[in-house]
Amino acid sequence: MADWNRIADRIIVKERAVAERNRGRIPYTTEDAHRFGDWSDSSRISWWTNGFWGGMLWQLWHATKEALFRDSALVVEEKLDAVLMDYNGMDHDAGFRWLPTAVAHWRTDKNEASRNRALLAAANLAGRFNPNGNFIRAWNDFGDGRDTRGWAIIDCMMNLPLLYWASDELKDPRFAGIAVRHADTAMEWFVRGDGSVRHIAGFDPATGSFLKERGGQGIGEGSSWTRGQSWALYGFTLSALHTGRESYLSTAMRVADRYIERIPADYLIPVDFDQEASCPWRDASSAAVAACGLLTLAGLLRGEDAATRYQEAAERLLLALDGQDADYDPAHDELLTKCTAAYHDREHNFPIIYGDYYYIEAIWKLTGTELFMW
Ligand code: GLY
Repeated sequence: MADWNRIADRIIVKERAVAERNRGRIPYTTEDAHRFGDWSDSSRISWWTNGFWGGMLWQLWHATKEALFRDSALVVEEKLDAVLMDYNGMDHDAGFRWLPTAVAHWRTDKNEASRNRALLAAANLAGRFNPNGNFIRAWNDFGDGRDTRGWAIIDCMMNLPLLYWASDELKDPRFAGIAVRHADTAMEWFVRGDGSVRHIAGFDPATGSFLKERGGQGIGEGSSWTRGQSWALYGFTLSALHTGRESYLSTAMRVADRYIERIPADYLIPVDFDQEASCPWRDASSAAVAACGLLTLAGLLRGEDAATRYQEAAERLLLALDGQDADYDPAHDELLTKCTAAYHDREHNFPIIYGDYYYIEAIWKLTGTELFMW
């Protein structure tokens, strides 16, 4: 049995040094010899990952109550206000940005400014809903001629909890109503018969009819981009948690079962489950997100055989990250070292902040120190 508290202690010692070195910054990846860059300048502040560092800081604060972590989290939250005032900077990833920052702060302090930020973000997310096809539009125009008005992506399942939160907070069912319609569309058009999922589905934005699957961050149409499988696993689990709907629970289980079936013998997750076995490209972030989803799913199924299966798979994924990927050296900024943003990108096997975030969340689930984010 792994000593999860020992792993948590190593993370805390390391992140104390990382947070001290990165005061006032919002990291995405290491840009120079184990040092994070800063993505909070005006050209990068709207990047979809800019909530995860804040989320790490809140998780670290929750476990330690050390002021350094909390003070730094507040800086991130305030810097994101610039995005709320930039229509083109807002997209469907509002949940990724404001749940681990403003909502985490609100859950801690019940303060009005954080509630206001999160409700503005939720209202913007709800405004992306296309009632013709019952889906939330993913991205704005890229400016390269592609028509993205009818594009929805599986990652959005992780943004729906911002809408569930807003409905609870305002006692107004409109937000959750949009979330369940999007989740129902995702069940129908993203989840394949074998439990794998598509990344991008294209719909006609005027009629809502499904047009085609599009290649996204995996190998291409028909393939199984591993982080997309993880977003679906955790995302449907969270929709089951927030709504109590059996259909989301059984969908999360189908996706989880397929994910577990495809885990390689060494438990190190590739970028796409359909890549050549000889391809060395990995995505540790997929493993960390999947571990969070599996642990949450196991909690929902407590007492059932499936719960043990999911708990064991999550622990094996985390042990592989601990033993074969994580860097606990306090002199290095990165925690997980081999993540990949997209299969066809030039760069692979590098640190990305959401890998670190979900690794910490998963370990905190096992040590009982998690601040619930989603
Ligand atoms: N587009 C979100 C992700 O890279 O997972």
